Amino acid sequence: MRIVVVGGTGHVGSFLVPRLVRSGHEVVSLSRGSREPYVVDPAWQQVTRVVADRDAEDAAGTFAGRLRDLDPDVVVDLVCFTVESATQLVEGLRGHVDHMVHCGSIWMHGPSDRLPITEEDGTPPVGEYGTAKAAIARLLTEETAAGGLVTTSLHPGHISGPGWPVINPLGNLDPQVWRTLAAGEPLAVPGLGTELMHHVHADDVAQAFSLAVEHRGQATGQAFNVTAASALTVRGYAQRAARWFGRDADLRSVSWEEFRQQTGEEHASTSWEHLWRSQYASIDKARRLLGYAPAFLPDEAAEQAVRWQVAHGELDLPADLVSR
Ligand SMILES: NC(=O)c1ccc[n+]([C@@H]2O[C@H](COP(=O)([O-])OP(=O)(O)OC[C@H]3O[C@@H](n4cnc5c(N)ncnc54)[C@H](OP(=O)(O)O)[C@@H]3O)[C@@H](O)[C@H]2O)c1
Repeated sequence: MRIVVVGGTGHVGSFLVPRLVRSGHEVVSLSRGSREPYVVDPAWQQVTRVVADRDAEDAAGTFAGRLRDLDPDVVVDLVCFTVESATQLVEGLRGHVDHMVHCGSIWMHGPSDRLPITEEDGTPPVGEYGTAKAAIARLLTEETAAGGLVTTSLHPGHISGPGWPVINPLGNLDPQVWRTLAAGEPLAVPGLGTELMHHVHADDVAQAFSLAVEHRGQATGQAFNVTAASALTVRGYAQRAARWFGRDADLRSVSWEEFRQQTGEEHASTSWEHLWRSQYASIDKARRLLGYAPAFLPDEAAEQAVRWQVAHGELDLPADLVSR
């Protein structure tokens, strides 16, 4: 099949594009061309790269036409964030492509009230991003149910892997958290440390996209959670991370107010966004319909990210600590 991947050089695309090439597909990767894929792979030599700015072309109303001109059988859309943008694509591709596969987020679900969260029983989303992802997923399901474009939406957890910072055990991106755990020093944890985070390795997300493309019949009109098979609590993640450095986590429970004061507003509010939702998504549907079988535990995905950052001088930790 001829497959256009919109946003093919990002976290997911870096793993997905080579997978699609190895499955025998003709692949076109579209991006603004501002970065190379996160993973070096010879498969990229067989990929056609197209430079375009989706936002600018959405604004001009020309993006769907550009994709049509590329004559794809399948469009994988990894960077769509508004209903308007999704609507343009659906209307422009209807009758022209066999399948459109969209990347959503488990933040299409709100703060958890029953675990694990299935595609059907999540609480309503909160915040602009998750609300838009939920609305796009609904739009796509309705489009397909009405006999229009065949669509599928896949909803990853916190995408993790080598090449970029990973959400840490406190649910934020503060590098000091890793230094504290690596040194075995006391780590202030807001609340009890029982909230959940659901990471997924980027290559497992890529596996799910690849399966959705191969199993179009099973994926038609469906939304799927795409996460690791298990989720980590704050304390479980912190304990496992401390062990990478040969330490035990020394966790000290503090109030959210104290945490905000100690950590600063930016990291505290990122923590709040993750921990308040406290999500653990079920992947039963993706396993059943697509044969999805994630290869990485969430802490393995996170460990790869941290080791990569240390090895590339992007996280200031004693290198010998991470090599234990
Ligand atoms: N990060 C997470 O933890 C997470 C969790 C759940 C869901 N998601 C979803 O995952 C998707 C993002 O995937 P990702 O993590 O692979 O993204 P990413 O790493 O941010 O990569 C984005 C890709 O899209 C390209 N791109 C960005 N803006 C563009 C534009 N205006 N026009 C054309 N290309 C553009 C980028 O290349 P250029 O910069 O060169 O254009 C790159 O290839 C989003 O739909 C997001 O909602 C992410």
